[in-house]
Order: sequence, then structure tokens, then C-alpha cells
Amino acid sequence: MATSTRRPVIAGNWKMHLTVAESVSLAAEIQNRCARFRDVDVIVAPTALAVYAVAKRLADGPVAVAAQHCHGADSGAFTGEISPPLIAAAGARYGIVGHSERRQLFGETDAGVAGKARALFDHGLTPIICVGESLAERDAGQTLVVVERQVKAALEPFAATEVPRLILAYEPIWAIGTGRTATPAQAQDVHGAVRALVARLAGPEAAAALRIQYGGSVKPDNIRALMEQPDIDGALVGGASLTADSFARIVARGEEP
Ligand code: 13P
Repeated sequence: MATSTRRPVIAGNWKMHLTVAESVSLAAEIQNRCARFRDVDVIVAPTALAVYAVAKRLADGPVAVAAQHCHGADSGAFTGEISPPLIAAAGARYGIVGHSERRQLFGETDAGVAGKARALFDHGLTPIICVGESLAERDAGQTLVVVERQVKAALEPFAATEVPRLILAYEPIWAIGTGRTATPAQAQDVHGAVRALVARLAGPEAAAALRIQYGGSVKPDNIRALMEQPDIDGALVGGASLTADSFARIVARGEEP
């Protein structure tokens, strides 16, 4: 395990999978399997349609709910969108912003992501802010340039004292859904650089408190080595969060789930 005092945080991003009924049932199974792990924050992110029903089913805790996406405004004529106050009222406590699929497929920008993170925060939700480079950017030696630009933009609207209450997720795009995980050392290199950047931007205390998740082909058999890295504080899990068994084994981080 990482030696820091930061509380691990493991989130399952269900993306565009599962009906409302399937989501509630998976959430209940995860709650059942994960309730005994009290040293970790566990989060599930169902589709927007299922956020309310899943949050209701999980009201007893300890598993919390995240939205996968939001608009930056509180309300308005934005057909198809959902806003932070609506997400909070539906029972979620977290919101994912800036996922690479949103950036790549739906044109989300660094500034837009920052505005959404701020809006979530202002409504009492914890933003999980995703950053990460493409394969072409990594091959061109641009990984830290890209990730640092994304992190800098995302933290722009936040005071140093607020930074510890955010979560960053480093998800190299080439590792998402490909089965090709970053090695623990590759991930640690970026996590360490991000924490050093946060120290420059918001001070060493904020940097020491901020939790940074890794995402990209996290599985039960690689979570332990990832979590052993000093700057990896958790995981944002896609495919392996879609069954209670594999997700519970990730939450267990090498112990018997
Ligand atoms: P996979 O775990 O399926 O690679 O997805 C990672 C991800 O995008 C989580 O947000």
C-alpha cells in the first residue's frame, strides 16, 4: 500500500452500460461485497438515468455515487444536459469531469472542464477531474506537457485551501479499455510530476493531501502493484467495475474480498 495518510479512493465508471434495474442490482451487490472495507472510499458512477435509483439503494452507505458528466450551469435551456444541483439532489456526492471520452468525442476543453469542476464543488459535490495523454502524445515525449497543462487549467478556479477536497484521475488514453495498463513505474512518474506541480500551484500541504487516482485497464491482478506506488491513491475503473466480483477484488487491493 502507498505509505501516505491519504485515504484510498476506488471508483467504478460504468460508462454507457447497464439499465436502471441492472445498475441498482450491481450497486447492491457491490455494497454487500465492499461494506467491510472501511479504510477506502468506494464510489460507483452509473449512467445519469440510474444515479437517483442507485443513490437511493445505497443510502445506508458506505458506497457513494458519482455522475459521469455534467453541465456547468445550474439550470437553463440545455436540452439533454444535467446540472450539479440536479446531480446533488439525486443523491450523488461526486462528479466525474473531463474524462478523455468526453474530451475526445464530445469536444470538452480544459476551460470547460475547470468550470464544471468548480460548479460541482459549489454544490457540495467532489469533482473527480480526469487528465491523460494520448498514445501519439506519449510517443512524442509530450506526456507531462499535456497532463500538466490539463491539471493547471483544472485547478485554476480553486483556492489552495480547496485543493485537498478535489480528486484527480490520471488516465493515459492508450491504457483505457485496451488491456494495456501503464506499468506502476510509468504511472508513478506522472503521478509524482502532477503532485509536484500541485505543490508549486497550491503549496506542499495541498499537494500532500490531494488524492490522485490511476485509471486505464485496472484489474484485480494489477491494483496492488499500482497502489504500492507512493503517489497513487486509488483507481478509476472502467470494464472491471461492471461485475461485483472483479470490482470487489480491486477494492480489496490484494486482500481476500
Ligand atoms: P478501463 O478500466 O475499462 O480501461 O476504463 C478506464 C476508464 O476510462 C475509467 O474511467
